[in-house]
Amino acid sequence: MTQISTIAVVCAAGVLLFLAKIAVADAPNKQTAEENDDSSRLTTVQLEPIEESISAHMEHIFKPSYRRLKALMQEEPGDVAGWKGIRAEALLLAENGGHLAARRPSDGGIRDGVEYWRTNSGKVRNHGADLYRAAKEKDFDTATRSFRAMTNSCNACHEASVLFGSPPLLSPFGAGVTD
Ligand code: HEC
Repeated sequence: MTQISTIAVVCAAGVLLFLAKIAVADAPNKQTAEENDDSSRLTTVQLEPIEESISAHMEHIFKPSYRRLKALMQEEPGDVAGWKGIRAEALLLAENGGHLAARRPSDGGIRDGVEYWRTNSGKVRNHGADLYRAAKEKDFDTATRSFRAMTNSCNACHEASVLFGSPPLLSPFGAGVTD
């Protein structure tokens, strides 16, 4: 290879490397711009439910979370992982209980109107929050009281939701429908 063509090859390689670097540097910027677009779109729709069906919320969120929580609440956790598990489930149920309050029962013919719906959703939220805080403090007596109270609020809504086909009554201890 002549000296000139060697220089040409080196220059061409340099240019390619430079272009490749620009492409790589550009990619994250494009990603960020798309994400920004997406998040501004989200602010206008974030309060709309993703799934309308209460049944789906109970089956996919409440039931599996309560099942895991119940197993953890049968005796005082002996390690950090047990307390962490209780905190996680309590937070999940408390936050989702709060979200239920903004929803409407979809059967359209509720005993006692919608008030029981909002009240019991709010109670699941508040007792779930107490359970979450008690688990942070590793206070099993308060945690147990909050767990029972939350379960009573789940059941109160279930008992009132007769037109849904009598949702199950949950038992916080011993055998139950979520086991
Ligand atoms: C605001 C009312 C309300 C509250 C509060 C509520 N539920 Fe429900 N739940 C329902 C209704 C309505 C159904 C029946 C849904 C259907 O099948 O159409 C149901 C059904 C269920 C079912 C049966 C679903 C299945 O797939 O077997 C489980 C389990 C359940 N709920 C768990 C819970 C738990 C656990 C809590 C409390 C942490 C809770 N629910 C709180 C209204 C409520």
